[in-house]
Amino acid sequence: MSRIAYVNGRYLPHRHAQVHIEDRGYQFADGVYEVVYLHHGRLVDADLHLRRLARSLRELRIALPVAESALLSIMGELRARNRVHEGLIYVQVTRGAARRDHAFPRPGTRPALVATIRRTPPFPKNIDGWTGTAITVPDQRWARCDIKTVSLLPNVLAKQAAREQGATEAIMVAADGTITEGSSTTVWIVDANGILRTRALSESVLPGCTRAALAEELGAVGIAFDERPFTAEELTEATEIFLTSATSFVKPMLKLNGAPVGDGAPGPVARRLFAILARRMSGGVNSGRS
Ligand code: PDD
Repeated sequence: MSRIAYVNGRYLPHRHAQVHIEDRGYQFADGVYEVVYLHHGRLVDADLHLRRLARSLRELRIALPVAESALLSIMGELRARNRVHEGLIYVQVTRGAARRDHAFPRPGTRPALVATIRRTPPFPKNIDGWTGTAITVPDQRWARCDIKTVSLLPNVLAKQAAREQGATEAIMVAADGTITEGSSTTVWIVDANGILRTRALSESVLPGCTRAALAEELGAVGIAFDERPFTAEELTEATEIFLTSATSFVKPMLKLNGAPVGDGAPGPVARRLFAILARRMSGGVNSGRS
């Protein structure tokens, strides 16, 4: 069965799915995206992803070319046409195709909407088989990292640096020495005093939907976390480092820049959060429409 993609109102075989060469996403990275995990055929936290997509679009003054309900239907249709139960849905909205000019195109230029779906291995059964390693790199991004734009070149270079050093993720260090986030993940630590921390939301980081989902769950079970930024030095001293994202779930980093983190095994806090997220995904109230 060939893969089917959605492109501007049409469902097309993946290999024939194309956008115009003057699409502003292609020429200027003038667009935004979302990645939603599909678990047991359900969109995980679809509401959070739709809200963030709407915010990214609003910040860049791009209109979603279809109603949100229609976007949900497109995702459902992709799932059905591709017969995917466990996978990722990618949604991208750009300012559309227009003659190349840096300023916005004339009013009426229709934003472009593309969506694809891809099968992934099932949600990991066990955190011990779901670990990675990290390096630190300078954060070379712009001043609005809270917008989920397709302008990801610094993230691409950071992730490639990690790959070339045999690591899973690159954790970015801002000019002031604090950790912002991973190249495609939110970073959490258990610091040397045993405090669970992740950086507060600001224009320096993407507001992770997995972060939001966990924050909600942690609140419900009374686990506190501290949103004070932490430095690269505190990262080195952390007893646990783990990442969250729609595709990483809760993923412990067992090494940082080649040195073991804590005792070099997934720590108790990561285990707890992994279990909490797994429970939410297997039927939590907010885990998206069925
Ligand atoms: N990345 N920070 C960055 C820079 C990200 O790109 C992502 C997500 C996150 C975590 O967000 P969420 O929990 O909503 O997935 C944090 C996606 C998965 C990607 O680009 O593939």
